[in-house]
Amino acid sequence: MLVSATEMLKKAKAGHYAVGQFNINNLEWTKAILQTAQECNSPVILGVSEGAGKYMTGYKTVVGMVNGMLEELNITVPVALHLDHGSYEGCLKCVEAGFSSIMFDGSHYPIEENVAKTKELVKIVAEHGMSLEAEVGSIGGEEDGVIGAGECADPKECKMIADLGVDFLAAGIGNIHGKYPANWKGLSFETLAAVQELTGELPLVLHGGTGIPADQIKKAIDLGVSKINVNTECQLAFADATRKYIEAGKDLEGKGFDPRKLLAPGAEAIKATVKEKMELFGSVNKA
Ligand code: G3H
Ligand code: ZN
Repeated sequence: MLVSATEMLKKAKAGHYAVGQFNINNLEWTKAILQTAQECNSPVILGVSEGAGKYMTGYKTVVGMVNGMLEELNITVPVALHLDHGSYEGCLKCVEAGFSSIMFDGSHYPIEENVAKTKELVKIVAEHGMSLEAEVGSIGGEEDGVIGAGECADPKECKMIADLGVDFLAAGIGNIHGKYPANWKGLSFETLAAVQELTGELPLVLHGGTGIPADQIKKAIDLGVSKINVNTECQLAFADATRKYIEAGKDLEGKGFDPRKLLAPGAEAIKATVKEKMELFGSVNKA
């Protein structure tokens, strides 16, 4: 059964580790992530961007697929199904479809509007036993059509949003979606420390988890990050493994063109990436 992410992230914050959010795109992605979480005995959050939701033919299809897999794969670790960077309308659709968690990304609105919309959603998720993530500041780069300037969050604005009763908060701290450029200055731990100081026990979220060096990940967890989002790194691993399979001509040998064979190396590569992240984030054996 799907669970909200509230309890798993409270536990993570208290235990000084982070739970990974891994974005899904299709059946292979979902199955690979769920199996890895079970093998690692780790809680996990499945992220669904609005674009990926459309690609998978809608949120109801996603809910059906995930619930079916939880049962058929005998998944017993805590799993949350979470809308990633949702619009207000997208959030309402996911509440209706049966997600267990949503992110409202109001970071591109003036703070008053972000506050007003977040406040509405706090009420709605409470009625449904779901969890809510909000965002302040912005994540640089682009993810599935969501473009951010990358400015660091104002800690006072973070407190305003935290005080509304959200379950966890994403604050822009110099993090970027996609690959980090060679001249990236690194995470702003000054901003993170100031946000943590004002928001206390609230679990903080680090987006743009692809390619952040391990020492910065560990420092971010020490400073209150309890959820780390990873998307691009699984995509790169999948693409690389699939390319190698095709370049080696394996799709031409025997029944190698069978999609169940063709997509298998990519799925294995996702599993390896997710396992590596769970080990780095410290969530192994924390189910
Ligand atoms: O919301 C999802 C993430 O922030 C993923 O970022 O693609 O850079 O790993 P990433
Ligand atoms: Zn993100």
